[in-house]
This record gives sequence, C-alpha cells and structure tokens, in this order.
Amino acid sequence: MKYQMAILTKDMLSDLAKLEKMCFSVPWTETMFLGELLNPAAVYRVILYEGKPVAYMGMWLVADEGQITNVAVHPDHRRQGLAKELIHAFIDIAKHEELALLTLEVRAGNQPAISLYESLGFYQVGLRRNYYEGKEDALLMNLAVSGEQEKGEKNS
Ligand SMILES: CC(C)(COP(=O)(O)OP(=O)(O)OC[C@H]1O[C@@H](n2cnc3c(N)ncnc32)[C@H](O)[C@@H]1OP(=O)(O)O)[C@@H](O)C(=O)NCCC(=O)NCCS
Repeated sequence: MKYQMAILTKDMLSDLAKLEKMCFSVPWTETMFLGELLNPAAVYRVILYEGKPVAYMGMWLVADEGQITNVAVHPDHRRQGLAKELIHAFIDIAKHEELALLTLEVRAGNQPAISLYESLGFYQVGLRRNYYEGKEDALLMNLAVSGEQEKGEKNS
C-alpha cells in the first residue's frame, strides 16, 4: 500500500518539523514535538509515504475530551483523503477511550480545514476573537463522539 498510518516515533520528529514549516505560518519545532512524545496525555498518528511522514494529527486526552492539537498534510498529498483518514482514526481512539467529545480550534479564515471538519460532522460551538497573533478569530468546533457512534450504527 502507498500510504501507511503509524504511531509517532522519535526518528520522525525532524520530518514533522519540516512538514510544519510547509503547512503553518507559526510552525511547531522539533523540540515541541519531542515534548509531545513525552506527554502521556498526547496521542499522535503519522501517515507515511514511501517511509516518509506526509501527514500527521495529534490530540490531548483531557478528562472526557480529546482536544485536537493539529492536523497537517503535505501540500503534494492533499485532497486524497489523508486528513479524513486521520480524523476517522482519532474518532475510533475516542470511542475506545470512551470520550464524550472531540474539540478543536481553527482559524476563521482557514476554509479548507473548516470544510474538512464540517464534512465529518464537527459543528461550531464558539468563537475566540483575535486569538491568532491578536488579529484572526478562532472558531471552536466540537464533535460529539457518541453521536458519531449512533450515526455509524444507523449507517451500518
Ligand atoms: C486542511 C488539511 C489538513 C486538509 O487535508 P487533506 O488531506 O487535503 O483533506 P482531505 O483530502 O481528507 O479532505 C477531506 C474533505 O475536506 C474538505 N476539504 C479539504 N481540503 C479542502 C479545500 N482546499 N477546499 C475545500 N474543501 C476542502 C473537502 O470536503 C474534502 O472532501 P473532498 O476532497 O471529497 O471534497 C490540509 O489542507 C492542510 O494540511 N492544510 C494546512 C494545515 C492546516 O490548516 N491544518 C488545519 C489546522 S486547524
């Protein structure tokens, strides 16, 4: 298979930091990812293409919530369903951990990401004004994990 999902390991951190630079105006560094690897509440998954990370997603387990930290896909590998596949994997983890909600923050101007989340059933629950660099609003979005389960059962 072309793409493979894997658990984040230390040898992937420098590639992830490079991926961040391609995807975000304020990228996470290798040191920040190392901190995530050492954080027992953090869960990360990476998608490898020919052994190299081309997409990743992270989440913090906080009480009965999964707080999504980041989702990023290399520009050459977008619109192939990789982000969707990662989010589905995290919904499965959330069900396994018996979480009630997945939560996230997204820049109000990040239409690709907002479309992605809405296509998976996330809904807006709030707004933080001027949250990013003091000038761009953040939308707060949730997905009810149990609702997702009911939907999946109805469709199966
Ligand atoms: C947002 C991002 C993660 C999407 O990754 P992706 O792998 O291309 O997304 P997918 O292929 O899984 O797309 C799934 C659905 O999301 C929506 N979507 C994704 N990219 C979109 C775009 N550029 N415009 C409109 N809708 C989009 C579509 O509904 C798409 O389904 P479709 O392709 O059948 O129309 C990617 O563009 C990215 O890494 N952006 C930079 C980092 C970022 O903004 N991360 C989110 C931070 S909150």
